[in-house]
Amino acid sequence: MEQVITTIKKVFIETYGCQMNVYDTQLVKSILLEHQFGIVDNEADADIVMLNTCSVRDNANRKIYNRVHEIKQRKQSTMIGVLGCMATNFKTELLDNKSLKIDFIAGPDSYKTLPNLINNLTFSGQKQYDVTLSEFETYSDVYPSHESGVNAWIAIMRGCNNFCTFCVVPYTRGRERSRDPYNIVGEVKRLVQDGFKQITLLGQNVNSYKFENYDFADLLAMVSDVEGVERIRYTSPHPKDYPMKLIELMKERPNICNQIHMPLQAGNDRVLHKMNRTYTKQEFLDLVTGIRAVIPDIAISTDIIVGFPTETEAEFLDTVDVCKQVQFDSAFIFKYSERPNTRAAMKFPDDVSEADKKSRIIRLNELQNNIGLAKNKQLIGTKQQILIEELTTKRSDDDAQGRTDCNRIVIVPKAGLAIGDLMDVTIVDATRNVLLGAG
Ligand code: SAH
Ligand code: SF4
Ligand code: F3S
Repeated sequence: MEQVITTIKKVFIETYGCQMNVYDTQLVKSILLEHQFGIVDNEADADIVMLNTCSVRDNANRKIYNRVHEIKQRKQSTMIGVLGCMATNFKTELLDNKSLKIDFIAGPDSYKTLPNLINNLTFSGQKQYDVTLSEFETYSDVYPSHESGVNAWIAIMRGCNNFCTFCVVPYTRGRERSRDPYNIVGEVKRLVQDGFKQITLLGQNVNSYKFENYDFADLLAMVSDVEGVERIRYTSPHPKDYPMKLIELMKERPNICNQIHMPLQAGNDRVLHKMNRTYTKQEFLDLVTGIRAVIPDIAISTDIIVGFPTETEAEFLDTVDVCKQVQFDSAFIFKYSERPNTRAAMKFPDDVSEADKKSRIIRLNELQNNIGLAKNKQLIGTKQQILIEELTTKRSDDDAQGRTDCNRIVIVPKAGLAIGDLMDVTIVDATRNVLLGAG
């Protein structure tokens, strides 16, 4: 009797970039498992290594090129696939580059074709690619393969139509499209059944969500109504889509966290205009004031770029001024990095010197660190409810780590605690990065 031997190909996936990529990796795992692939958790056991990549800044690319060399050097026979934003940004250039031994590439809208790409590659020995961007793909029919835990993410919309001039995302992830709200609520219910307590809604412009007559606030209300959802967060919103009804809803609903990430990018009107950010310094400040008038203790974090082409020292000081006025709870600050094919790369030479970019990022980080520390210290003596996320910390196995409603990390003694517990603590000490709590 003829015996058919099927060898299951084992895949290891490494994820870079933003939370959307982390989510997409879970989608890819789910798709592969449905098609008789195996998932392994280390490179050595894998027949195929997939790198789910980011293209948002230059150093993101370099890391990947080094990884590809390293993987091939360890084991020549490993097949390497590049997924994510580098695939759609560089397309077949990645396969044509003879010094990079990449076997296949697939963009963020092509993950359902991965099993086919790999089979074609195995049978033909020819490099494979699918980097088409879709106006419709939302993967609403794929339930991501989660590791168990308390935190789960859900992509509710994908893509971006804003074309900020510095940003590659509209080119790597294509046009905005939103998922059916009832389909999202179905996924939330399943996550709650699977034990998840905190749900983060994801999108490149999460608050631009629009499905038929449902806007982002409508969706948020529906998710907040699902029984068993302890905490809801969302990221990243764009300042242009902040209707008051969204803020009122956040205030009304105890399970929507008191925290928003609101990317500023720059504080000077000329620079903001050149970035195509569609708001002025004053409009941003007014938005923050408006939000705090409704929810005074809301935590606001931000993203900032220093050294955008032609930004002068005086214009940079406008960004400093906004940081001083707003007192962000935290800020991710980046040096401008020219991305190929973006409008800024085509129209504005990258003319701010590296020394100036460096000096600006150092000064702004210093300011922000001081603000962050002072804000954390203000919390000493307050009572906070934390959700326990880990039963160990970087420093000690006797401590557990949780998060406040306003997204601050709190360390507490772990005795008697379990992951997912909600616990009331008093804050007894604070550093720039963490708070210490006592039960
Ligand atoms: N969609 C989100 C952000 C996506 S990228 C939003 O609009 O808020 C995340 C952050 O990376 C951006 O907010 C920006 O601060 C930074 N970034 C994007 N392109 C960059 C570039 N070319 N150089 C430096 N930082 C960049
Ligand atoms: Fe990039 Fe701007 Fe879109 Fe954010 S809104 S993803 S920064 S183009
Ligand atoms: Fe990077 Fe793409 Fe996310 S460029 S930040 S992985 S959307």
